[in-house]
Amino acid sequence: MILELTPDELLSTTRAVRRRLDLARPVEREVLEECLSLAQQAPTASYSQNWHFVVVTEESRRAALAELWRDVAYPYLERRPATSEQLVRIGEAVRHLAEHLHEVPVHVIPCVGARSEDKPVAWQASIFGSILPAAWSFMLAARSRGLGSVWTTFHLGHEREAAEILGIPYEEVMQVALIPVAYTIGTDFKPGRRNPLDTMVHWDGW
Ligand SMILES: Cc1cc2nc3c(=O)[nH]c(=O)nc-3n(C[C@H](O)[C@H](O)[C@H](O)COP(=O)(O)O)c2cc1C
Repeated sequence: MILELTPDELLSTTRAVRRRLDLARPVEREVLEECLSLAQQAPTASYSQNWHFVVVTEESRRAALAELWRDVAYPYLERRPATSEQLVRIGEAVRHLAEHLHEVPVHVIPCVGARSEDKPVAWQASIFGSILPAAWSFMLAARSRGLGSVWTTFHLGHEREAAEILGIPYEEVMQVALIPVAYTIGTDFKPGRRNPLDTMVHWDGW
């Protein structure tokens, strides 16, 4: 099933979905493969395509990943200021996802070849820039098929442990996110609130 969304609607309504993930509905492997094939069309530095997607559906592995995620998420929620209604709402949504992450039917972990922690920024920009467009394409393709997702990075605080759980060769490959994926409860999503364009766009110089 492809939702009837214009390109602009797709781009403006692919939201971080945490509360409206349908935990009871399985996600078909073929649908995930369609999204991953579209993700492969994203740009990469030097045509290297040195990336991988680890798709986790097995229950005990999702539970183990969720535990690592919570271990970083809960302290983050404790120290995070809740100075506006919007921040309070997001905090509650993050807590909700923390409590249910193990039940989300699919966890997708985009990875990229070559670790870059000791490399200059230009190198790191190429490495991360080689995987992040593909991961976002995956999320857009998922949304167009009625799936919701959310970019998360909490589990990276325990990246090595996650690599052990999944057999990822930690010394050669970096995980860049953990994207929970499920069908959404309802398919209507609204554009997110953003700052006025002129606060972040600089014409002909900063
Ligand atoms: C690099 C990056 C890291 C993020 N890490 C997390 C995370 O660990 N946990 C989480 O719940 N959301 C995470 N998010 C999601 C953001 O908090 C935010 O919800 C998202 O950018 C879009 O939200 P919106 O659809 O409400 O505009 C992350 C997003 C990005 C781009």
